[in-house]
Amino acid sequence: MTQRTLEGRIAVVTGATSGIGRATALALARMGAHVVIVSRSPQKCAETAAQIVQAGGSATPIAADLSSQRGVRSVAEQIRARFPRVDVLVNNAGAIFGERRLSEDGIEMTWALNHLSYFLLTHLLLDALKAAPTARIVNVSSDAHFAVRRIPFDDLNFERQPYRAFSAYSLSKLANVMFTYALARRLEGTHITVNALHPGAVATNFGRELGGWWGWVFRVLVSRFALSPEQGAQTSIYLASAPEVAQQSGLYFDRCKPKRSSPLSYNRDAQERLWAISAEQVQLAG
Ligand SMILES: NC(=O)c1ccc[n+]([C@@H]2O[C@H](COP(=O)([O-])OP(=O)(O)OC[C@H]3O[C@@H](n4cnc5c(N)ncnc54)[C@H](OP(=O)(O)O)[C@@H]3O)[C@@H](O)[C@H]2O)c1
Repeated sequence: MTQRTLEGRIAVVTGATSGIGRATALALARMGAHVVIVSRSPQKCAETAAQIVQAGGSATPIAADLSSQRGVRSVAEQIRARFPRVDVLVNNAGAIFGERRLSEDGIEMTWALNHLSYFLLTHLLLDALKAAPTARIVNVSSDAHFAVRRIPFDDLNFERQPYRAFSAYSLSKLANVMFTYALARRLEGTHITVNALHPGAVATNFGRELGGWWGWVFRVLVSRFALSPEQGAQTSIYLASAPEVAQQSGLYFDRCKPKRSSPLSYNRDAQERLWAISAEQVQLAG
């Protein structure tokens, strides 16, 4: 039987209507957390929340397009209006895009959704996280970040370099790790921890829209080797709830264990440069 170790806690999970995020939300609800289901489809958010309630848990659906800064701000506003605090924030919503697309804010879509939504939502919920007795931020990244050899600081929007889905994706996942390290430094001495993770290769809806060679490779790999969403959610659930990681912060995890991320991810100057660019892109001061 699942222990209800999160009884009375409020956990926000983005991308909670499918795959790893959905499995994470269901597990946290089974542990007693009130789970805020954040995703883009109002219907899927309502269905996931209803499933949790039917199983004896409690949940609130909040729908918004997280690739849009207006969407992220609206989610944060609704959370702050409804809840006195947030104990757990799992930044998980993400995708890979076959073609270069721009978000509503004119930002390359992978960067906007996979990185800037984590960055902005976390900032907008910091006061709510500070209001909790202890709080955890969990950033779902990927070992795909190891593929980045150089950060194209002068062309994060893929305007001059040719757009490649995997390059844009791995860059956004590197940004998740570097954001985690830079935020952990800023949160030192507080009761808020922040960690990043690789969930493994997981059979979800991820990559469904990829065509061509990458789409084929992806589908073959997923069908042969992938973990189930429940298996893929284990490290997210562990970081969001396990007592043994209550004090751990600024680490990268895989299969519920810390491991080294890419050498580039530890470059502090690059982390700070990314932080400054991200803050400017989402119009946050400092
Ligand atoms: N699957 C893997 O092998 C793998 C490996 C490494 C890392 N990851 C990471 O794991 C995380 C979860 O991915 P997954 O594999 O579970 O994929 P998934 O099944 O496609 O789930 C992605 C979730 O994000 C939501 N979402 C997508 N675009 C959105 C938007 N614009 N606004 C709000 N929500 C949006 C989706 O909503 P809908 O339900 O409406 O689609 C869904 O709930 C991602 O950050 C991904 O990078 C996955």
